[in-house]
Amino acid sequence: MKALVLAGGHGTRLRPFSHSTPKQLVPVANRPVLFHALDALRAAGVTRACVIVAGHGRPIREAVGDGSDFGMAVEFLSQDAPRGLAHCVLLARPFLGDDDFVMYLGDNVFAEGIAPHLTAFRADSPAAQLVVSKVEDPSQYGIAELDAAGRVTALWEKPADPRGDMAVTGAYVFTSAIHEAVAAIGPSARGELEITDAIQWLVGRGHTVRARPYTGYWKDTGTLADLLDCNRALLEGLESRVRGSVDAGSRLSGPVTVEEGAVVRRSHVEGPAVIGAGALVEDSHVAPYTAVGPGCRLRGAGVGDSILMTGASVEGVRHVRGSIIGKSGEVRRGPQLGAPHRLLIGDDSRIEITA
Ligand code: DAU
Repeated sequence: MKALVLAGGHGTRLRPFSHSTPKQLVPVANRPVLFHALDALRAAGVTRACVIVAGHGRPIREAVGDGSDFGMAVEFLSQDAPRGLAHCVLLARPFLGDDDFVMYLGDNVFAEGIAPHLTAFRADSPAAQLVVSKVEDPSQYGIAELDAAGRVTALWEKPADPRGDMAVTGAYVFTSAIHEAVAAIGPSARGELEITDAIQWLVGRGHTVRARPYTGYWKDTGTLADLLDCNRALLEGLESRVRGSVDAGSRLSGPVTVEEGAVVRRSHVEGPAVIGAGALVEDSHVAPYTAVGPGCRLRGAGVGDSILMTGASVEGVRHVRGSIIGKSGEVRRGPQLGAPHRLLIGDDSRIEITA
């Protein structure tokens, strides 16, 4: 089966990080969200994927390459503007041909993968199959109504007045029937070709659309809070592994991964936590649920429940919690010359200070 992976779109809700990095490349548990997607597809037996990127999409093309790092053959298609999920299907028709395919939203994380859903699709042979999950805020998602047998009877995209709480997640399996549907629909009120409308079109014409609940952890990493939540969930499954160096004055407790070239000195790292390749952790305390990215520097620092992206540093500052520090971002103790807080903050950033 082929995969269509959607990694275009705006990413406005992930600012400031999405100013410099497509949202699909923001790391959770030290691995870009999109890489988790490709891992899940490969684990489900998919070996050919087409990734939709916005504009030239250079950062994504460079990060994914030809797909061989993932054990897949990957090609790319540029979308000139975010014209909707169904527009991506139209665009990819030459790649897809008439084959069955899985459409995977590149900002979604399925911690336990999607293999059983592809197996079920093969067994049941519906025209389309959705993966659904109960949510607390149904107005933020596509919502599906199901009958007792798990057949989809109606769908709504981000309904203002939701009639149910079963969200359509970002893994769809389609037969070629979807191509007629995406060609038949028009743009929604927000000007996008909605995949929800295309699936509703199938339902309306009597095609069988099935929905299977996701039993593991699923997250649409749409907001910064979602990223931290996802980071915690993925770190839960971490294995203890030390490839870098940890001196005798340091203590690792719980599941901790120390990657190649990382150095931990006179520090306490409480897992689940990952210390990325080439990072330095010195005289510091890393509390649970922290992902320290490659090349980061912690000196006299205390950090927990946080994501530090490549090359970020925290020096002389304790009690950093629930934080996301972007690439090469610095948090450090100032000279204390009467100005207790001296801030140099990028566009759309947010700082919260107590005391
Ligand atoms: O996450 C599940 C939800 O995803 C579903 O419940 C909704 O029915 C579905 O419409 C979608 O909603 P979002 O508002 O979360 O979609 P978003 O704009 O974030 O796009 C999802 C992914 O697809 C993301 O990686 C960006 C990419 N994309 C999006 C659009 C609109 C494209 O590549 N091209 C596009 O035109």
